[in-house]
Amino acid sequence: MEPVQARKTRLALTSLFLATAAVGLSLSGCGGPGDERDLAPAARSAAQHGGNGTVSARLGGFDGILAFLENSVVPAELADPEIAPFFTRLTETPGDIENCLAMLLDHDLGGDSRHFGAVLADGHQCRSSMSNIHRGLNIPDRIVTKFIVIAGQQAALAGVAAADIQEIADVLDRYRGGVRNK
Ligand code: HEM
Repeated sequence: MEPVQARKTRLALTSLFLATAAVGLSLSGCGGPGDERDLAPAARSAAQHGGNGTVSARLGGFDGILAFLENSVVPAELADPEIAPFFTRLTETPGDIENCLAMLLDHDLGGDSRHFGAVLADGHQCRSSMSNIHRGLNIPDRIVTKFIVIAGQQAALAGVAAADIQEIADVLDRYRGGVRNK
């Protein structure tokens, strides 16, 4: 049975995301600058034309998700004055973090990347324990929420459908317990 607090958090996130997605959809409807420009071509095409299959496939698979992280999510997260300080003392490179997170998201959104444990070209092995990855960072719960909301805002700006944004948020939210207060 899901604890009431967890359910409340999830419901609050759901409404936040629907609001965010609504803004994103109306922006892409206007065709204004910034719409969908940062997504890889496959993801842009999927976002524009809809399509079947998994959320990962609609985002352009691992490559589309990695491009989305590099071009949209990471710059937006680092532009936030409350989030940026957590990324100042890294034990791995930004590229490794982006690649490992892109694989995790691709996997959880229905793609064929390895969930954890992949060895990258530079020898870094993606870790599986969210608690160990985020140990010592002391990330408060509300910062995790902010991180997820910013990712959702960027997806909305890129024209990703509301239901797919919700699924991305759900995937990230599933790791909350391992990320916060470590
Ligand atoms: C919400 C869900 C989150 C997930 C699923 C997630 C996942 C990941 C992954 C996969 C890595 C790469 C580590 C590896 O595989 O070797 C990573 C690294 C990192 N994450 Fe997160 N993360 C989340 C939230 C956050 C938040 C909210 C922050 C801070 C505001 C954060 C800060 C970091 C930092 C600083 C690193 C690099 C750690 C180091 O260099 O040792 N993460 N995260």
